Amino acid sequence: MRLKPFLLDTWLDQYEHGIEFNLAASTGPTWTVNDILALADEETRHRFLNHKLVYSRPAGADTLREAIAEMQDVPVDSVQVMTGASEALVAMMWLVNEPGANVILPLPGFTTFSALPESLGIETRFYRVRRENQFRIDVDEIKRLTDSHTKLILVNCPNNPTGATISDADMEALHAFTAERGIQLVSDEVYHPIYHGRKTTSAARLPHATVIHDLSKAFSIAGVRTGWMIEHDPQRRQQYWTARAYFSICNGTTGEILAEIAIRQRDVILGKTQETATRNLQLLDRFMAEHRDVLGWIRPQGGMTAFPWLVSGEDARPFCQAAADRGILLAPGDCFEVPSHFRLGFAAAGAEFPKALERFGKFVKSWSPKLATA
Ligand SMILES: Cc1ncc(COP(=O)(O)O)c(C=O)c1O
Repeated sequence: MRLKPFLLDTWLDQYEHGIEFNLAASTGPTWTVNDILALADEETRHRFLNHKLVYSRPAGADTLREAIAEMQDVPVDSVQVMTGASEALVAMMWLVNEPGANVILPLPGFTTFSALPESLGIETRFYRVRRENQFRIDVDEIKRLTDSHTKLILVNCPNNPTGATISDADMEALHAFTAERGIQLVSDEVYHPIYHGRKTTSAARLPHATVIHDLSKAFSIAGVRTGWMIEHDPQRRQQYWTARAYFSICNGTTGEILAEIAIRQRDVILGKTQETATRNLQLLDRFMAEHRDVLGWIRPQGGMTAFPWLVSGEDARPFCQAAADRGILLAPGDCFEVPSHFRLGFAAAGAEFPKALERFGKFVKSWSPKLATA
């Protein structure tokens, strides 16, 4: 088995920890343990400080599952807690692995989507989220890619890195199409419910869909390493429970309690992410208009990332490298197999974003490929 290099995480790990302005991260404003505990009532704080550091339950702590179920408006039984959306993706790909199987994925998309099935020898087929198509997720293109060996179709809304979204009507049409054919429809919603235009409703309402969600992106507390699946099918659910019991047994107890507090206080936490993303996206609107001779973009419909491109059509890696040398971290598009683009996260820098854009603007004005080697 071979896992392809994780170009994005290699890049982030190299630069993220010492950079002045991080515009590569796809998360939002940060929170400390203290901040989260300050949102809890006295009893919960007491529970947090005095809980025993023992194994939790493989399905997830009861009270955490209840909080998720209430937020997602689903029965508690449908909730399977995972160590981040990452573990959910591993379990899911592991379990669709059958001889001759194929899976249908977005391109560009989060690398794990393709790396996992490729490592298992599952055929990957890609629908394009094209800039020529205003980053629209085209359901007809997805349908055309399927055949009798298609096991799974994955939709990521809002999409990382483009910020593309799908309409409720399109998602429902895809749900009907997949249910009829016995194909698993997976909705990765880790950036939900952060939107900048039309909002998409969670696929948790669709009886045959599998939802993957986490606390890393919209909630922006990735350090709790808590994600979950909503799975209405009891057989699949049992398989996910078994996979998780083998992979990691359960989540960390500390993270589970913090996760539960965050979900119960979601109006505050998601409100902060949305407010930061909205404010910074307005600044980015102006920035992109000012630099339209060098940079092109399509405004994201949701999430906290944009996927601009260099109008020259050149590979953006030297551009990102030169920007990093000047204290601005972007993520090169080749990490998403679209080399002329780069990913720009607009919520993680929080209140520092205007300063980051000022520095980035100076860099863009001075940019010429010669700089890359200077
Ligand atoms: C679309 C998408 N899904 C899943 C993940 C995995 O996130 P985590 O394991 O932190 O929950 C990420 C992380 O970048 C992502 O962008």
